[in-house]
Amino acid sequence: MTSTASAFADAPVRLSVVGLAKTYETKQGPVEVIADLTFDVRAAEIACIVGPSGIGKTTLLKCLTGLQSITSGSARIDGEPIDGPPKEMALVFQEYTRSLMPWLTVERNVLLPLRHLRLSKPEQSERITSALAAVGLAGAESKYPWQLSGGMQQRVAIARAIAYRPEVLIMDEPFASVDAQTRFELEDLCIRIRDEFGMTIVVVTHDIDEAVYLSDRVVVLGERPARVTEIIDVELGADRDQITTRSRPEFAALRTRVFEHIRKAG
Ligand SMILES: Nc1ncnc2c1ncn2[C@@H]1O[C@H](COP(=O)(O)OP(=O)(O)O)[C@@H](O)[C@H]1O
Ligand SMILES: [Mg+2]
Repeated sequence: MTSTASAFADAPVRLSVVGLAKTYETKQGPVEVIADLTFDVRAAEIACIVGPSGIGKTTLLKCLTGLQSITSGSARIDGEPIDGPPKEMALVFQEYTRSLMPWLTVERNVLLPLRHLRLSKPEQSERITSALAAVGLAGAESKYPWQLSGGMQQRVAIARAIAYRPEVLIMDEPFASVDAQTRFELEDLCIRIRDEFGMTIVVVTHDIDEAVYLSDRVVVLGERPARVTEIIDVELGADRDQITTRSRPEFAALRTRVFEHIRKAG
């Protein structure tokens, strides 16, 4: 494929990862999980991180959100080193069942991070209502998480992140537990919030088609300890549609490329 500049090639770098390495100190001794990762994500880009299970994708996201210390190298947001949870970021965890407070209603769960934003009551309500509507959960405000299916709970976690309107949204396999139809809707929601709010989005996914459909760029992790084995620019344009985009020959070619790199990485 020819390499033309992506739609966001001129945007400033929002997230910059340089030579990032992570070694866990365990009782059995040090475990080197990530050897050396370098990649950028530009403002308002969607980047997907893919790679085999256990390669260190969740570890990377924890380093990016300040939940784990970085052993060497750096991660920066707008040039500032990340050394604790940055307030301009939101994270949607892989283990969504543990990310909602079971004793709070859906509405109060979504409200939690908003309390730090000094919004008026009507603004708070508006954000909660529109975020729940965006994930297809309009009217679920007074339900409790345990009254909802796993997929619905994950959508509440996504609504909470969206309502907060972070500059950078980080999600760890966010759509793994929802049905195919909802997954397509949530993928399109991701693209829509990027377009509407200029959010920069980093998504870990094991679904290659999803990575290509969502991304401006796919970062493939491989080898153990992990390195970036390939960065693939996805030049499918900004207008994407579940049916027409996925049936384009360029889409098939990109999917094959990502698949081959992941297979090599395994
Ligand atoms: N807190 C921890 N302490 C020690 N090892 C860990 C810890 N968290 C993850 N690991 C190890 O790091 C490796 C990568 O894990 P993870 O980041 O969850 O991979 P992925 O998300 O790609 O499946 C695995 O071998 C895992 O056992
Ligand atoms: Mg993981």
